[in-house]
Amino acid sequence: MAKFMAVWGVVMVAVVVWSAAMAAAGNFNEEFDITWGEGRGKILEKGQLLTLTLDRTSGSGFQSKHEYLYGKIDMQLRLVPGNSAGTVTAYYLSSQGAAHDEIDFEFLGNVTGEPYTLHTNVFTQGQGNREMQFRLWFDPTKDFHTYSILWNPKHIIFMVDDMPIRDFRNLEGKGIAFPKNQPMRLYSSLWNADDWATRGGREKTDWSRAPFVASYRGFHVDGCEASAEARYCATQGARCGNGDACKHSRSAAKSPDFTCLTKSQGPVPLPPADSCYYACKTSPPIGFDHALDSPGHL
Ligand SMILES: *[C@@H]1O[C@H](CO)[C@@H](O)[C@H](O)[C@H]1NC(C)=O
Repeated sequence: MAKFMAVWGVVMVAVVVWSAAMAAAGNFNEEFDITWGEGRGKILEKGQLLTLTLDRTSGSGFQSKHEYLYGKIDMQLRLVPGNSAGTVTAYYLSSQGAAHDEIDFEFLGNVTGEPYTLHTNVFTQGQGNREMQFRLWFDPTKDFHTYSILWNPKHIIFMVDDMPIRDFRNLEGKGIAFPKNQPMRLYSSLWNADDWATRGGREKTDWSRAPFVASYRGFHVDGCEASAEARYCATQGARCGNGDACKHSRSAAKSPDFTCLTKSQGPVPLPPADSCYYACKTSPPIGFDHALDSPGHL
């Protein structure tokens, strides 16, 4: 009986640990702190939904409790609907300090009926200027869509609904710095940037429509917390580093059906699988090549 109880005890502990790790994958209460906005950011539905609001007085924002060093981070967002001109919803990874690294998604609002601009950027050691902008192929205010960052030692891949839209490769061999040493936290905020965001600042925020609301759900991270005990990461980061999981994906990535996209090149074949890709799809979405700016990236 004692032996049975001991075994059962181990099972119970395992269940508790496992469910803690699972919860860590999704609950906003456990994963994030609302950091500013005096009540304008809210965690709802027992941690399954988060909303940020912006009014004339203030925007709002949140940040992850944990820091990550490599991983794949997914979040579903539904952006401010209607006339969102002047508003910016930012969703990014960043380390601390002056020589910080940063991986950015920014959604620049627009007047009713005109498309959002999806702005991406990568900072290494405090240096940015690697912007690329995109048009989405759907209305990002109607439904939740998944925006992901896959960050490993060789690539930073921006994905929208599992479609890679940008591959920022590690080209350190050519003297281009790549973020790889500094753990990053996940941040998001909704704020007023009507001095520049929409048509270069010509469209102002229409405060009669405030409060503006952006919503979040479905947070998921597959990677390693920089500070973490290993049990926190389901795959020990192997999927996103140089571990065995990459080897497994090698044959898939060699398939000609797998294409990724960059703005300058259009659809391109995936690079050989010294990196992990999971979600490349066969056909580019309509409108994908409407990327706007000349890319700052190399
Ligand atoms: C808003 O819509 C106009 C017209 O379609 C477009 O030129 C512009 O790039 C869009 N985005 C922003 C952020 O202004």
